[in-house]
Amino acid sequence: MTIQKIMVIGAGQMGSGIAQVCAMAGFEVILHDLNEEIVHKGISSIKKQLQKQVEKEKLTNSEKEEIIQRLNVSSTLDDVKKADLIIEAIIEKMEVKTSLFEKLDQLASEKTILATNTSSLPITEIAAATARPDRVIGMHFMNPVPVMKLVEIIRGLATSDEVYEQIEAVTRKLNKTPVEVQDFPGFVSNRILMPMINEAIFTVYEGVAEPEAVDEVMKLGMNHPMGPLTLADFIGLDTCLYIMETLHEGFGDDKYRPCPLLRKYVKAGWLGRKSGRGFYQYS
Ligand code: CAA
Ligand code: NAD
Repeated sequence: MTIQKIMVIGAGQMGSGIAQVCAMAGFEVILHDLNEEIVHKGISSIKKQLQKQVEKEKLTNSEKEEIIQRLNVSSTLDDVKKADLIIEAIIEKMEVKTSLFEKLDQLASEKTILATNTSSLPITEIAAATARPDRVIGMHFMNPVPVMKLVEIIRGLATSDEVYEQIEAVTRKLNKTPVEVQDFPGFVSNRILMPMINEAIFTVYEGVAEPEAVDEVMKLGMNHPMGPLTLADFIGLDTCLYIMETLHEGFGDDKYRPCPLLRKYVKAGWLGRKSGRGFYQYS
């Protein structure tokens, strides 16, 4: 089967980035979210990104228009019938993902591959919600998707070689570098990154330093492009908390215990950039 049409479910920061790179690589894309208003917000952020590229002369105006033509909006799950590949990028909660995968399995053609952009959740468990675990796979993009070269690819226990090879080929077509890792909580990326972010939050919680100082230390001292708290705000503090909970539950080790300050911020609705407030304020 050749993959031509990709449906992206979830038009938040990751889903819209994934839809953008898929359309830029020549795929027909359907972008779906819970309602049309959210999808249109995603599409307008893609248009802004593309316009910036036109201004920087990295894209011509007519190339931009062709990319936009390949982007279709959907607010009904029935559209999954048209897709060869579905990439899910919704909230990082197992019960929400498995309930969606059950529906996708019922609606999609039996050949359709179901990929998840989960940051940390077991692919095998998501796949088990379907009757096609051999056609379910992890395709973990990094944020911001148009810029970051990596896609972690994670097989569930039953993922077939054919599906792995197709997803590896799609990843290369997106001009990204696939790296295969095994199905364990947080995979490689977030098993290493997120405890560092959590520790940075503990240093603020324990009064060791202010957020600005923690970020300066890591930027100037370790040459990180963003300090860990700026990065946490960028990722979304809700997503950071869900990932830490998955690591804590999956490994059962206290070293993965989410910082109480992270929990408090999420409870307050301080989710970082997307809500306008996290460790920093965004207007
Ligand atoms: N969307 C699309 N493009 C963006 C962007 C965004 N949100 N932010 C920046 N860019 C583009 C800019 O347009 C610019 O493109 P050109 O080179 O074509 O001009 C380029 O990125 C560099 O941007 P800037 O010069 O404005 O800013 P910068 O040099 O500070 O880079 C950054 C911005 C690339 C985001 C950089 O700060 C960075 O690499 N930060 C760390 C990102 C990171 O660690 N991501 C991984 C997060 S963890 C994850 O994703 C996994 C998970 O499961 C949580
Ligand atoms: P986000 O909050 O920006 O967007 C999530 C979107 O999913 C929202 O628009 C929401 O309306 C939609 N949604 C929720 N339930 C839905 C459903 N049942 N059907 C359709 N749409 C639904 O989140 P995000 O940062 O884009 O993260 C999405 C996924 O990508 C998560 O699994 C996250 O762990 C993963 N991820 C995030 C990052 C990051 O840096 N933020 C990086 C890699 C992977």
